[in-house]
Amino acid sequence: MTALQPRCFSGVQPTGNLHLGNYLGAVSRWVPMQDVMPTIFCVVDMHAITAGFPNATELTNATREVTAAFIAAGIDPKRSVIFNQSQVKEHAELAWIFNCVARMGWLNRMTQFKDKAGKNSENASVGLFAYPNLMAADILAYRATHVPVGDDQKQHLELTRDIAQKFNNDFAERILELGLGSPNPVPSPESPEQIYLPLPEPMIAGPAPRVMSLRDGTKKMSKSDPSDLSRINLADDADMIAKKIKKAKTDPEPLPGELEGLKGRPEAENLVAIYAALAGKTKDAIIAEFGGQPFSVFKPALAELAVERLAPLNAEMARLMADPAEIDAVLKNGAEQASAIAEPVLRDMRKIIGFLDVR
Ligand code: TRP
Repeated sequence: MTALQPRCFSGVQPTGNLHLGNYLGAVSRWVPMQDVMPTIFCVVDMHAITAGFPNATELTNATREVTAAFIAAGIDPKRSVIFNQSQVKEHAELAWIFNCVARMGWLNRMTQFKDKAGKNSENASVGLFAYPNLMAADILAYRATHVPVGDDQKQHLELTRDIAQKFNNDFAERILELGLGSPNPVPSPESPEQIYLPLPEPMIAGPAPRVMSLRDGTKKMSKSDPSDLSRINLADDADMIAKKIKKAKTDPEPLPGELEGLKGRPEAENLVAIYAALAGKTKDAIIAEFGGQPFSVFKPALAELAVERLAPLNAEMARLMADPAEIDAVLKNGAEQASAIAEPVLRDMRKIIGFLDVR
């Protein structure tokens, strides 16, 4: 009866370019977690086929590119487990078990499915519908306790907790009988005192920026925006970064003297937020520095800062992408470490469920 150990898990889909929004909102925030607890970071290639199979070569490349971005951003393969999901079979196996734990009614409430499937939900893949069960499996195959995610994934994390809780409750007696329980850190009238699966904590990005499109300050920066000028890709070099900032949409007014003055000026607010995040300062501090200045002054300063922060990352990504064997070696090692954690968990879970083990 050992206590559940803290462990951090998160994932990013290998679809197209990682951009500044992914970096500031996700990957850069994972880096300090490495000092706090064991960390696992996954390139979720099995999630990347739920909305249609991407071109095979592009999927392979994107998997390496996201891995390169992790490493370039400061995820250290010596301290963190870095791997791609499809290499560790336990994800698929546990996802099936969770297909039988989660209720149709729970999944029917997922807003991301509704957004992605749109009006034509009859034609969406079953995988897109079951996506949150796979995400729960990603996390719980490692009995992870902490999951840094963006606001848009909060509902999926709540579902993960519901799945863990239902499994713990439905199998409470078996878990006790087999001696596989750990003390429940959050006992409640509905949940047993001994549990097998932790209820993972979402770590929602704190004061961090929602990075918006450079062409429309009311839309999120997105890899699917048809205009490449709308985003700063982590693979963009210095000239491209400077060009995109120069071309970013603004209004004709200079920056306001107070934070309040950014209200109703989404493009100005976005650029100030990006500057603040890249500088590691508050938006107030940026307004104090640049209030009253025209964009002809602010944009070059922002371009210089963005290049200073992102160019080394870009250079390291380019170096890694030129040596796919090095990336693949990191992923191979990571997959082995990940399997070593997930295999015993699945062995326990099969035993709890009662699958006959004859091997
Ligand atoms: N669904 C997440 C996203 O789109 C990616 C993801 C998959 C994930 N599995 C995960 C994030 C497990 C955290 C933990 O952003």
